[in-house]
Amino acid sequence: MQLRDFALERFFAQHEFTAPHLLCTSDCESVSVADLLAHEEGAVERFMDLRLNYTEAPGGIELRQEIAGLYASAGTDNILVSAGAEEAIFLCMNAMLSPGDEVIVPCPAYQSLHEVARGAGARVVPWMMHDDDGWRPDIEALKESITPKTKAIVLNTPHNPTGSLMTREEFVAVRDIAEDADIHVFSDEVYRGLEYDPKDRLPPMADLYEKGISVGVMSKAFGLAGLRIGWTATEDTDLLRKMAALKDYTTICASAPSEFLAALALRHRDAVVARNLGIIRSNLALLDRFFADHADVLAWVPPRAGAIAFPRVLAGEGAEAFCLDAIRKAGVLLLPSTKYDGYDDHHVRIGFARADMPVSLARFGEYLAARPTS
Ligand SMILES: Cc1ncc(COP(=O)(O)O)c(C=O)c1O
Repeated sequence: MQLRDFALERFFAQHEFTAPHLLCTSDCESVSVADLLAHEEGAVERFMDLRLNYTEAPGGIELRQEIAGLYASAGTDNILVSAGAEEAIFLCMNAMLSPGDEVIVPCPAYQSLHEVARGAGARVVPWMMHDDDGWRPDIEALKESITPKTKAIVLNTPHNPTGSLMTREEFVAVRDIAEDADIHVFSDEVYRGLEYDPKDRLPPMADLYEKGISVGVMSKAFGLAGLRIGWTATEDTDLLRKMAALKDYTTICASAPSEFLAALALRHRDAVVARNLGIIRSNLALLDRFFADHADVLAWVPPRAGAIAFPRVLAGEGAEAFCLDAIRKAGVLLLPSTKYDGYDDHHVRIGFARADMPVSLARFGEYLAARPTS
């Protein structure tokens, strides 16, 4: 299997641990092990007694029960635990796709969502998204992209990198298109739970469609990326079986301490997510003012969910040159849209779920104020 470099990861490898002000991170502020254990009486003692054996290959039963509780229709047999959402994407694309298949993937998208599909031999058909229509999905364009070779539609809502969120009508319309064509919907729902208005929260695709595949993770809404725990939920148990067979060659099973901590966080998910949404809300208030003050350089479509947005760079030099200059002169790290394969050079990703975002934003503001005007 030939995979091209993950452009975003290579960019982060170069700058993440040297740039002092990270302003494009996609996850929420994490917590210490002690803070997480403090949610439950007796958890410290139970954690210290944990045996460090191999865990159950599909995921420990206690963890799968907690995950199944996030879905209306899933039981523990409908869940496969993985090393992050990344492994879920890898296993699912390889289990679901064969050479000659076509798969429709939003563009821009988190690179694995199209690169692993391509690596599995499928032809990737991009489903373009644009800021001039508020990042709304073009349902007609989706219909026109379906061919007899289409095997799956990929969704990612709330969306990385735009922070857009499908309406329920749009989400159901995609399900209906997939049902008519009898194909899978692979729904990356890693930002589910971070809707700014809880009324906007969509049901998981796995609850809406027997060929719906919902992928979740502890990294984003829960702010626990270091656990490396993700999962797939689907009623398609044949597909899960194929994924589980591949997993025997990737990670076999998850880490025991991570399973313990993930199950605990899921039992206290309302409190864990509320804290993260609190950080996001207070940072968004700063960003509203920031984009109003810098409307000559940056234009954004305000996000509706998640931890990131994708403003347009109005300056003439292009997003990549803009970002490199901001790193060099101010130590502020933004992610240029050139790192989203197949997209443009006019946008930057900004992340706002970290507690130190106000400091990084102030530094970015100073940098913009010192920029020569054109
Ligand atoms: C849309 C999307 N899917 C999947 C992943 C992978 O998540 P993880 O790194 O927790 O495995 C990410 C990570 O940034 C993401 O943004």
